[in-house]
Amino acid sequence: MSTRPRLTKRVLINGAVVLWGVLLAACLTVERAMFAPPMQVAGAEFVGSGECAECHAEISSSFHDATHAKLFAEGTHGKEMSCEACHGPASKHIESGGVAGTIVNPDRSPETCFQCHLDKRAEFSLPHSHPVMNGQVTCTDCHEPHKGDAIMGGGTHLAAANETCLQCHNAQRGPYVFEHEASREGCVTCHQPHGTINEKMLKSRNQSLCLQCHYQEQTASGQLLIGGRDHRSFVSRGTCWTAGCHEAVHGSHVNSSLRF
Ligand code: HEC
Ligand code: HEC
Ligand code: HEC
Ligand code: HEC
Ligand code: HEC
Ligand code: HEC
Ligand code: HEC
Repeated sequence: MSTRPRLTKRVLINGAVVLWGVLLAACLTVERAMFAPPMQVAGAEFVGSGECAECHAEISSSFHDATHAKLFAEGTHGKEMSCEACHGPASKHIESGGVAGTIVNPDRSPETCFQCHLDKRAEFSLPHSHPVMNGQVTCTDCHEPHKGDAIMGGGTHLAAANETCLQCHNAQRGPYVFEHEASREGCVTCHQPHGTINEKMLKSRNQSLCLQCHYQEQTASGQLLIGGRDHRSFVSRGTCWTAGCHEAVHGSHVNSSLRF
């Protein structure tokens, strides 16, 4: 995987719009239907998405069912704004016939997205998070801006959602002799992919992560049953996955209890 840090004009433009971002956040909380004052190329004006189709036929023709196209269509000026909400006003770009540097290309920078998704900047600054701030991983590795569901493989297609993660995390792919059925529910049952305060971006740092699905029962005789076994002396040793008990939490080739 390559890291391509870029300190271009684009990044400098980003700095100038921080204030706009703050203003926008206020709009978002009040209305939820909105468009951003985008990052811009100086002196350019909005022309509307219809203008892009002539030269970017492929992107434009599949854009109609994109999450953001649907959202922006609801705003007052939404219909005209959709492409330019992320790419900034395009008049100069079009006049020039598409010369480089005449329009915003977010490329690997998350700043375009932060304009509206302000809370995400904080999530990706948490101690355990995907390295998005330095461009090593991008929002568009997991999200599709131009067509269909913005959450790749989202909705009910869980296998496809996991596929997004497995393209980089091949070690968790399996197939395992003893599969942990939990992964069928999606990697995000246990991981918060933006970031958390917990190691490995886990949603919880203790056994409550596992007790989402595995029932725990306290018997009259003082036993603590999980999966039909008394866990009284186990749970004090550490988490379910670090205490030497279920370390192969994604699946195991040798042990049906996912021990290793
Ligand atoms: C007259 C033709 C034309 C029109 C109309 C046009 N573009 Fe382009 N655009 C180009 C060309 C040519 C390029 C450069 C070739 C390439 O990289 O595909 C380009 C590149 C881009 C890039 C990448 C820029 C970069 O620096 O990497 C973006 C983003 C873009 N266009 C967005 C838009 C949007 C949004 C619209 C409509 C508001 C639009 N374009 C309308 C011709 C056009
Ligand atoms: C939600 C934000 C968003 C919207 C809306 C959006 N784009 Fe993009 N676009 C991006 C991002 C991010 C990139 C850079 C990453 C990538 O290539 O996927 C990009 C890249 C591009 C590129 C350069 C592609 C390349 O191969 O270098 C073009 C051209 C483009 N967009 C055109 C459009 C057009 C036309 C529309 C409207 C039909 C549109 N975009 C709507 C976010 C957006
Ligand atoms: C102009 C504002 C704006 C920009 C720029 C923008 N978004 Fe959004 N996006 C929204 C709004 C509004 C929603 C609706 C979600 C909500 O209610 O918070 C949304 C929803 C989403 C969703 C959730 C979709 C779902 O199915 O729940 C994802 C993922 C997303 N955006 C990713 C991105 C990414 C990645 C970028 C940058 C390439 C981006 N957005 C840029 C306004 C924006
Ligand atoms: C490593 C993959 C990954 C990266 C990188 C990523 N996301 Fe997400 N994002 C997801 C997944 C998966 C979901 C769905 C979470 C769920 O279903 O619980 C999601 C959900 C969202 C949502 C809707 C739910 C919410 O949390 O508000 C938004 C908006 C969003 N992402 C924006 C972004 C932005 C902006 C970036 C870049 C700054 C980004 N994401 C980077 C994987 C990622
Ligand atoms: C574009 C590649 C890419 C995609 C897609 C991706 N990741 Fe990652 N992931 C990374 C990188 C790079 C790291 C940081 C690795 C490091 O710091 O050693 C990471 C780290 C992690 C970690 C923490 C690892 C550790 O040792 O602390 C977890 C957990 C994780 N990713 C889960 C996911 C999940 C869940 C998804 C899907 C929603 C996903 N990843 C999608 C590249 C990716
Ligand atoms: C049942 C909960 C659960 C599910 C579902 C899950 N994980 Fe994990 N994952 C964990 C736990 C717990 C750890 C920490 C293991 C450790 O510290 O030894 C972890 C660690 C990781 C790591 C860090 C590497 C490592 O082995 O320490 C990556 C990467 C990862 N998971 C990716 C994924 C991906 C990709 C998926 C979906 C295919 C997924 N996880 C599904 C619980 C889960
Ligand atoms: C999304 C739901 C879900 C989550 C969260 C989950 N599991 Fe599971 N787990 C299952 C299902 C379903 C099975 C297979 C049916 C069964 O044995 O209960 C299973 C089976 C197991 C087994 C094998 C039981 C056996 O002997 O056959 C172990 C061990 C296990 N899980 C441990 C864990 C641990 C440790 C965690 C927390 C890191 C966890 N599970 C989180 C759903 C989940």
